[in-house]
Amino acid sequence: MNASGETPQPLAPASIITGATQGIGRALVDEFAKGGHTLLLVARTETALAEIARETADKYGVAVHYVPCDLSTSEGCDRVAEALDANGLYCESLVNNAAIMTAGFFHDLDKDILVQKVDLNVRAAVDLTRRFLPDMIARGQGGVLNVASLEGFMPVPYQATYAATKGFLIAWSRSLAWEVFGTGVRICVATPGPIDTTIHEKGGAQHSRYMVYLPRHSAEQAAEAAYRRFMRGNWVIVEGWVNRIIASGVRFIPGVMLIPAVGWFFRVRDAAGNLKEPKPQKHPDQASGD
Ligand SMILES: NC(=O)c1ccc[n+]([C@@H]2O[C@H](COP(=O)([O-])OP(=O)(O)OC[C@H]3O[C@@H](n4cnc5c(N)ncnc54)[C@H](OP(=O)(O)O)[C@@H]3O)[C@@H](O)[C@H]2O)c1
Repeated sequence: MNASGETPQPLAPASIITGATQGIGRALVDEFAKGGHTLLLVARTETALAEIARETADKYGVAVHYVPCDLSTSEGCDRVAEALDANGLYCESLVNNAAIMTAGFFHDLDKDILVQKVDLNVRAAVDLTRRFLPDMIARGQGGVLNVASLEGFMPVPYQATYAATKGFLIAWSRSLAWEVFGTGVRICVATPGPIDTTIHEKGGAQHSRYMVYLPRHSAEQAAEAAYRRFMRGNWVIVEGWVNRIIASGVRFIPGVMLIPAVGWFFRVRDAAGNLKEPKPQKHPDQASGD
């Protein structure tokens, strides 16, 4: 009973999926809904969230809630926790999927977007996981699925910051998986190779060689594998034999060979395949305006 003498309603379990409006996140919504989970969807675009929530609830007969917010801010993460409380839910599964990528020479990329990338891809995952993991451990069930990338296994020139955020997720998830081992909670990290979504075009990498020469999977294939293996409790999810060879093979290739080769695949190009050159930098001693 609470102070007003009423028996409080027990909270219901929910799966939180960030970046749920497009690409892999959108496909993960279907996988979790097929599995019968109540959902809390998170992204910035409210109209898309509302439409996906309605479609998913109609198709799979599960309760679907949503919260529009910018997860690159800590206020955005607060809103996720508030939405859980407001709907009488607790977090059973957390999917840290939302991310942005921008490609090019680091020194040419917009500083605010680089910082936003670290805030969204890394800080939001740490913030949300720290909020919800203690309750999962107390209940002895649930899990966190971090969506990293094959890029997280190696240094990636021209997507350096993005790849490093994904490397963070891989190392961090593996460490946490060990820390929670035996509690009934699982921490998994999915590491997809190139997937057909709009992230490459939004990041300016649609003409890079990796988009031409590396095999690509669909968002649905990536989500199906991630969900299936998250449910099984696999710590590191690498799907497909080419991706497995790359993920394990890069450890044995000296950096002097690996980094230029990866750079060739990831260098930004135009539609005709011509290299995008770095912008000329003005010497600091040069008078402004000349
Ligand atoms: N595509 C690939 O080749 C590939 C390969 C390996 C790993 N991954 C990883 O898979 C995940 C999904 O990638 P994707 O290709 O599916 O990306 P995507 O199609 O660009 O979708 C990104 C999602 O994140 C949301 N989002 C972006 N900024 C946000 C913010 N500040 N706050 C809250 N939500 C935000 C977007 O919705 P709004 O715009 O409405 O906010 C969208 O729902 C990412 O972690 C990515 O690194 C992708």
